Amino acid sequence: MGSAAGQSEGLHTCPMMTTEGVARLAEMRFVPRRMEFESLVRVLAEEHRVMEAGLARMKDASTRGDYDGVASALKELDPIFKQHIADEESQILRLLIGELGLKGAEAEIKVFQQHRPIHRLMQLISELASKSVPELTAEQRRLNDLFLHHTSLEEQGVFPKALVTYRELRGRRASRPS
Ligand SMILES: [Fe+2]
Ligand SMILES: [Fe+2]
Repeated sequence: MGSAAGQSEGLHTCPMMTTEGVARLAEMRFVPRRMEFESLVRVLAEEHRVMEAGLARMKDASTRGDYDGVASALKELDPIFKQHIADEESQILRLLIGELGLKGAEAEIKVFQQHRPIHRLMQLISELASKSVPELTAEQRRLNDLFLHHTSLEEQGVFPKALVTYRELRGRRASRPS
């Protein structure tokens, strides 16, 4: 894909915003929250702590072989995660690609592509009945490691870049003659 062509096509060529991606979000029935952009970024960072606490509870439960405990923590976590990624993919990434193009938002697209493997691991863990405790513990460790790596990439890289991009856009809009 030529970068110029890719950039001018914007969202339509974003791998996360394909018809399949949109259908996936619709199927999950989570629509982006209407919120001021800077507040949204703050809420998303706070949700990382909430989800990390949920994952820590799941990890404790899986280590104890407490399958009910894992299932109930996962049930709480699932809708928070789905709402969270609906907002990240349709609001944060939308702004970055809209302002910087696909090339300029390449690193952030890669970070958001981790949402699928994270969700796949959550689904795998939910098939609890078929697992031994060591299997469950190993999957749980993979999920927690991937999630912590993901949130740190977002908080160190994606969110600050999105905020800078948003403030620049806001500044340009404010200085535009009406
Ligand atoms: Fe994310
Ligand atoms: Fe996130």
